[in-house]
Amino acid sequence: MEAPAESLRSDHVVLRRWRTGDLDALEQAIRESLDHLVPWLPWAADPGRRQTAEYLARAKEQWEAGQDFSYAITSGAEVIGGCALMRRIGAGGLEIGYWLHPAWTGRGLVTAAVAGLVGEGFRLEGIDRIEIHHDAANQASGAVARRSGFTEIGRGPAPEEPLAPGESGIDVIWRMTADQWRTRTAEAVAARRSG
Ligand SMILES: CC(C)(COP(=O)(O)OP(=O)(O)OC[C@H]1O[C@@H](n2cnc3c(N)ncnc32)[C@H](O)[C@@H]1OP(=O)(O)O)[C@@H](O)C(=O)NCCC(=O)NCCS
Repeated sequence: MEAPAESLRSDHVVLRRWRTGDLDALEQAIRESLDHLVPWLPWAADPGRRQTAEYLARAKEQWEAGQDFSYAITSGAEVIGGCALMRRIGAGGLEIGYWLHPAWTGRGLVTAAVAGLVGEGFRLEGIDRIEIHHDAANQASGAVARRSGFTEIGRGPAPEEPLAPGESGIDVIWRMTADQWRTRTAEAVAARRSG
């Protein structure tokens, strides 16, 4: 089954596939981030060691099935968040998800992680679009999509219940097509050469 690279180096962060041995570090990062995760991520309402171990086991299974590719966001030896490329939006598509420990926000680290995931996602066979979906009230998440060069393509009622407590129930969908990504990459290369 085709899969992306297990380790991706972006500006200032390294993304690497989760390992079973990340249990302590992930549990601690989630515990310290709960106030900031609970409003937006339904899974954060039920944290704990068992749930975190189950998440890591599921991440391994999904990676091996070629379904979802979940990464730790790391800085040095520290786990500072998580992100993923997920095949849940239909053929030819990948959705990106992300969260960061609040001590590490405001530095462009998730924007850098998204750039790495987009480049890697479009290297997978048959991928013609990558999307970011978030609740309309989650402005920090929307800002990542905008900053990363995605285009808002629609808003509408969220397909899944239950909602996390900060969510409005209206989803915003952002997309980057393979053509847009190629143009953006060529422009970045040209800018580097001329600068
Ligand atoms: C969504 C979330 C990951 C965004 O984190 P973030 O730190 O704002 O995102 P980035 O790491 O890309 O950093 C962007 C910020 O760094 C700043 N920044 C500094 N240097 C930067 C650089 N080189 N490049 C880009 N941004 C930079 C930006 O201006 C921005 O700050 P601002 O919001 O004050 O304008 C974070 O708020 C989070 O974990 N939220 C809870 C979980 C969640 O909602 N997940 C998404 C569910 S859909």
